[in-house]
Amino acid sequence: MILVTGGAGYIGSHANKELNLAGYETVVLDNMSYGHQDFLKWGVFEEVDLGDTEAIRDVFRKYEIEAVMHFAAFTYVGESVEDPQKYYLNNLRNTLNLFQVMNEFEVKKLVFSSTCATYGNPQKIPLTEDHPQNPINPYGQGKLMVEKILKDYSQAYDLRYVSLRYFNAAGADPEQDVGERHDPETHLIPLILDAAAGKREDIKIFGTDYPTPDGTCIRDYIHVTDLADAHIKALKYLETGGKSEVFNLGNGNGFSVREVIEEAKKVTGNQIKATEIERRPGDPPILVGSSKKAREILKWQPKYDDLTKIITTAWEWYKKDNEVGM
Ligand code: UFG
Repeated sequence: MILVTGGAGYIGSHANKELNLAGYETVVLDNMSYGHQDFLKWGVFEEVDLGDTEAIRDVFRKYEIEAVMHFAAFTYVGESVEDPQKYYLNNLRNTLNLFQVMNEFEVKKLVFSSTCATYGNPQKIPLTEDHPQNPINPYGQGKLMVEKILKDYSQAYDLRYVSLRYFNAAGADPEQDVGERHDPETHLIPLILDAAAGKREDIKIFGTDYPTPDGTCIRDYIHVTDLADAHIKALKYLETGGKSEVFNLGNGNGFSVREVIEEAKKVTGNQIKATEIERRPGDPPILVGSSKKAREILKWQPKYDDLTKIITTAWEWYKKDNEVGM
């Protein structure tokens, strides 16, 4: 069975679905601090906090775990600056608990959720995997520390891992079984959809004086189902003897905040009021990644590779989720 930590969260639930569709059996482990009960639609579920090493051991005793996909983590960059301890305890210490138990039970395959936030301010675009990593916030720092620890562990304990550095995960399952729902919501696309649906008055544009063509930040939005698919490909790569590797996952196209708002107007057919305010601390002006390596080695090919498809699936999910109740 495949252990999916954080499988009740946004990216973890999409990957859990794809794993089951691909014929894998899964055990979802989640402490439900940010997870959603109604995202637990596939596999078996164990409510466990990774802070509790003995409870992790119980899961490994109960099921025959062949490989782990480790999604469980806190992901609010701003919060990580205000309360780094919260991030290091969960994203670093609890991750080490998991690795310790994997080691005890001789589970040697891991797919790890890393992030483009490990690069910090880019020196050149598009970012390739060998770009220097100088994170500018504790969230990125903690993820980078895990990447480095994995390197040591893989050499010492024959663990084989794939670290996937996601760019901006967006969109939702096209069948709307799961989707994006955060509390609090801080991500650009769901907040724009709130404004399009009239649930918030406007979308705030954080900074219009960046060194970009329209002055707003540029990001590489990647569909969550494409991310999920990359995890299956990474797992198969490890299963067929692939060596430990790191891959960027993005579309290689950058869109500015203003461009995302314009596209959302077209997709939703609604007016969206934008209010320009000051920069949000810690935002690099441009993050766009090259995923050439993942395309070549994992044979990964994103399907929802344009902003229209990404926002369309996000909007379909948004409408469903808000009618059904949150
Ligand atoms: N933005 C706005 N207004 C908003 C929200 C966001 O203008 O109300 C802008 C941001 O300033 C940024 C862009 O929209 O330029 C995207 O912001 P998001 O908050 O949606 O995502 P981030 O680019 O901050 O993503 C970061 C890291 C990821 C990490 C993620 C975790 O790049 O690696 O935060 O939430 F996983």
